[in-house]
Amino acid sequence: MTEDSIELKGGEPLSGEIELRGAKNSLPKNLVASLLTAEPCFLRNVAEVEDVEIVSAMIRLFGGEIKKDARKGDLKITNKKLSLARAGKLQAVAGKSRIPILFAGPLLARLGEAFVPALGGCQIGKRPVDFHVEALRSLGAEVVETEAGFHFKAKKLVGGKIDLIFPSVGATEQVLLSAVMAEGVTELSGAAVEPEIMDLVVLLQKMGAIISVDTDRSITITGVSELHGFDHVAMPDRIEAASWACAAAVTGGEIFVRNARQPDMITFLNKFRQVGGEFSVRDGGILFRRGNVLHAIALETDVHPGFMTDWQSPFVVLLTQADGASIIHETVYENRFGYIDTLNQMGAKIQLFRECLGGNRTCRFGQRNYLHSAAIMGPTPLSGREISVPDLRAGFSYVIAALGASGVSKINNLKTIHRGYEKFTEKLKLLGAQII
Ligand code: EPU
Repeated sequence: MTEDSIELKGGEPLSGEIELRGAKNSLPKNLVASLLTAEPCFLRNVAEVEDVEIVSAMIRLFGGEIKKDARKGDLKITNKKLSLARAGKLQAVAGKSRIPILFAGPLLARLGEAFVPALGGCQIGKRPVDFHVEALRSLGAEVVETEAGFHFKAKKLVGGKIDLIFPSVGATEQVLLSAVMAEGVTELSGAAVEPEIMDLVVLLQKMGAIISVDTDRSITITGVSELHGFDHVAMPDRIEAASWACAAAVTGGEIFVRNARQPDMITFLNKFRQVGGEFSVRDGGILFRRGNVLHAIALETDVHPGFMTDWQSPFVVLLTQADGASIIHETVYENRFGYIDTLNQMGAKIQLFRECLGGNRTCRFGQRNYLHSAAIMGPTPLSGREISVPDLRAGFSYVIAALGASGVSKINNLKTIHRGYEKFTEKLKLLGAQII
């Protein structure tokens, strides 16, 4: 084992207990919200994941102060006096993260101006930020895009009507973080309503924001002139929870995921049960295991309350062990099956299709030449091999496949997994993975 690669001997059940901390896709947004006030903010249950480091480093470049109690996972963030940061320095710390675009609204509220470096993120599709830019323009921001990034300017953002043509998580967060301190009312329709977004709404409400969420994906934000500090416990990571659940079922083990919350995972739990996984909701977490037989299933990924796209790749590995033909239709990203070739080389029998298969409807990618549906024939024995991790979620899925495979697998570029899963190798060891 080196820092960036691991050799795993498969075929042993993974059993024991691991603990979730704050969600990788929630913590950074909580931190960005702290920029909306000069008062101290307290964020608790903070996991050590890369996006938290990136956002913290960016906040410091703007003049904020962050104190960390690493053992408890507590952060105290004080953004008393902010000033513009140099583009070069921002670029150096922002790396490949997609979070920096969310700095736009809070910085406009505090400084009237913002620069956001060009964005990265996992290569799972084109991942444009046009919705973000259009939303900010609708609120009155001037936006200039250069090769280096985006320059935003606005003396004061003004509430407006914004209609998202797809319920984008990031764009919804953008509107929330920008409209809370805009002048007047913002009406957002077509909003994403993921639990991470509801958690951001709760945090902003603690700060003094006025936000109402309707049942029809519309959110109304009444701007206020001042926001206050918050004390907030970050929500646990429901994507990590689902990944360990699949690892338990694939290896035939039993994993108690401490802090996993049933209400955030209803759709996953339904599908897990239909496939033949078993779970029991207990005090403080959920216990996952495999039932006797795994059954094939058809499902499509979707925005909340649908089956999350981030649950897709660990679930595909699980379906390679199910009896019969399963279908997965990916409707959120056009290119999220890039990892299938490697699974096939390990012995899986998965075929990709450009058509919309298995769902009730055609999606945005249907007639557009994207391999976005998968047919998975199971059960197929998997065998170990050398693998390079392409992106975060596919990376965890390769590890699950390696754990369920016969023989040894060497997994390279492990740092991509470490970026989004806290203490990943320690957790594997705790669960009894055979690390060579
Ligand atoms: N989209 C646009 N234009 C935009 C924004 C999005 O066309 O301006 C498209 C995207 O290309 C994609 C779809 O809308 O096809 C959904 O994107 P969304 O904005 O919802 O995704 P995101 O906010 O960039 C977050 C998570 C992703 C997760 C998605 C969907 C973070 C940091 N990332 O991304 O997580 O898959 O929501 O739930 O919160 C991951 O954790 O591995 C990951 C990729």
